[in-house]
Amino acid sequence: MDILRFYLNGDLREIDFSAKESPPLYCSVLHYLRKYEKLTGTKEVCGRGDCGACTVILASKDTVSGREKRFSVDSCLMRLPQLHGKHLLTIEAPDQYLNTRAVKKAFLKERASQCGFCSPGMVLSTYIHVKNQIPFNREDIQRSLSGNLCRCSGYQAIMDAALFLEKCPEIPGKKELPLAFPEPESKMLLFKQDDLVYVIPSTLQEFYRVRKTWPVARIAAGFTGSCMDYKSSVIDISHIPELTHVKVTDTHITLGAACNFETMKKELGSLFPYMMPYLDEFASLQVRNQATLGGNIADGSPVGDTMPLCLAHDAVFLVAGPHGTRSIEARRFTTGYRQVALKPGELILAVEFPRQDEDAFYFAHKQARRRNMDISSVSFVARVNLRGKTCRDIRLAYGGMAAVPTRSMNAERFLKGKIFSLNNCRKASALLEKDFTPLSDVRGSATYRMDVAKNMLLLLYESYTGNHD
Ligand SMILES: Cc1cc2nc3c(=O)[nH]c(=O)nc-3n(C[C@H](O)[C@H](O)[C@H](O)COP(=O)(O)OP(=O)(O)OC[C@H]3O[C@@H](n4cnc5c(N)ncnc54)[C@H](O)[C@@H]3O)c2cc1C
Ligand code: FES
Ligand code: FES
Repeated sequence: MDILRFYLNGDLREIDFSAKESPPLYCSVLHYLRKYEKLTGTKEVCGRGDCGACTVILASKDTVSGREKRFSVDSCLMRLPQLHGKHLLTIEAPDQYLNTRAVKKAFLKERASQCGFCSPGMVLSTYIHVKNQIPFNREDIQRSLSGNLCRCSGYQAIMDAALFLEKCPEIPGKKELPLAFPEPESKMLLFKQDDLVYVIPSTLQEFYRVRKTWPVARIAAGFTGSCMDYKSSVIDISHIPELTHVKVTDTHITLGAACNFETMKKELGSLFPYMMPYLDEFASLQVRNQATLGGNIADGSPVGDTMPLCLAHDAVFLVAGPHGTRSIEARRFTTGYRQVALKPGELILAVEFPRQDEDAFYFAHKQARRRNMDISSVSFVARVNLRGKTCRDIRLAYGGMAAVPTRSMNAERFLKGKIFSLNNCRKASALLEKDFTPLSDVRGSATYRMDVAKNMLLLLYESYTGNHD
C-alpha cells in the first residue's frame, strides 16, 4: 500500500491510511485541516463549493519544465488523496511560502472584513489574482472573487482593498521561496483503508486492470459533479496521460477528458474567443480549477454547460474501454435524463472539436438567476455558416429545455437555405415550441424557459448584426 505524501505550509506530511487514527480515506481536505491539523483559519460554511470560505492554494510542479504553478481550490470539494505530490498552502502559511501580508494590510486599510468568516478565503482569492498576474481591473477582480461569498455584504470594501493593491509597493506573492515537493512518481498509487481503496492509475492499461479488480469502485476525476458525496472506493482517473493531453492540429483541437475548465477556457478560448465569457460563467475559479470536461459530459445533466458547446461544434467524444476505442458524436451521447451512451468499463478519453469553420459565426449565452456561481436555467450555443446573406448551415443547441441538452431541429431546418434576417429568426423562434416542452422547476417556469429560449434566437441575430455592420 502507498503512503500519501504532500507538503503542508512548508512541511512534509506522510499519511499511512492503514494506521490507527489516520483520517478516513474519503476525508475532505477541509475536514483534514480543521480536525487533524487544527488549522482552523480555513473555514467551513456550505461544504459544497458554493461559498469559497474553505479556499486554499494548491501548488504543483510541472514535471517537464520544473515550473511551480499555484491555483486556488475549494478544500471542501477535495479528497485527501488528491494532495499526493502537491504542496498545500493555507492562510496560516509562513510569509516566505505564501506572502499575503500586503493583501491583509489592504483589507485592514479598506475595512474589508466585518465578522471575518469569509476573510481567509477572500484574502487567498485576492492573492492568487495578483500572484497569477490576472489583469487588474474591476471586472477581472470580480470574476476572481466570484466564488467567495460574504454574508456581511462587504463586497464594495473588498473590491476597494483588491484594487488598492495595484498601488501598493509591497506586491503580494513576491519574495517567496521556491516550494518543496515530494519526489515525482510515475507509477500507479494505491491507498487502502479497511475495505476501501483509492486508486490512481498512471496509464490506461492500469485503469483497465484495476477496474477488473474493483468493479464497484466509482470512477472520479474532479469530485465536483456526482462524485462529490462518494464515500466508496474510488478510481481517480485524473493522472492518466491520454486524459490530460491537449492536441491542436490544422483541423481539430482535442482536449483530454480530465482537463479542467481553466485549461479548457485557455485552449478553446484562444481558438474560439466567443466562448470566453460563457466559460467564465461556469461556477467559480476554484471550481473551474477542479471540475473536468469529461465529468461534466459524463454526468449527463440537462443543464450541464459543455454539451451545448459540443453540439454546436459537432464535437466527437473519443471513448475507450476494455474492448478498444470508439468515437461517439456529441448528438448521440446523452441518451436520456442523466443517461449517456457509455458502456460499462468505458471512459471518455478526449473531446475533439473541429476547427474548420472559418466563415462561421458563433454565439453563446447562459441564462441563470445569478451571473456567477449558478446552474443555467437555459443555455444556448449557436453556430451559423453564411454564404452571402443566406444561411448555409446552422446549429442551435440548448441546455435546460429538455431532459437532455439538444438541438432545435425544426428551427434549424427552417433557417437553413433562407436569408439570415431578424424576421426569419423571429419565425424560427416560434418553432421552438415544436421541439421543446420544458419543465418548471426552481430555476424557472416552463413559460419563462420558452420565452428565454426564443429571445436567445433574437439575441443571436442582434449579436450577428453587431459584429458585421
Ligand atoms: C459549486 C459548483 C458549481 C457548479 N457550477 C456548474 C456550472 O456552472 N455549470 C455546469 O455545467 N456544472 C456546474 N457544476 C457541476 C460540476 O462542476 C461539473 O459537472 C463538472 O464538470 C464535473 O466534473 P468532475 O471532474 O468534477 O466530475 P466528477 O464528480 O469527478 O465525476 C462526475 C461523473 O462523471 C464520471 N466521469 C468523470 N470523468 C469521466 C470520464 N473521463 N469518462 C467517463 N466518466 C467520467 C464520474 O464517474 C461521475 O459519474 C458545479 C458544481 C459545483 C460544486
Ligand atoms: S465550505 Fe463553502 S465552498 Fe467549501
Ligand atoms: S466579513 Fe462576515 S462573511 Fe464576510
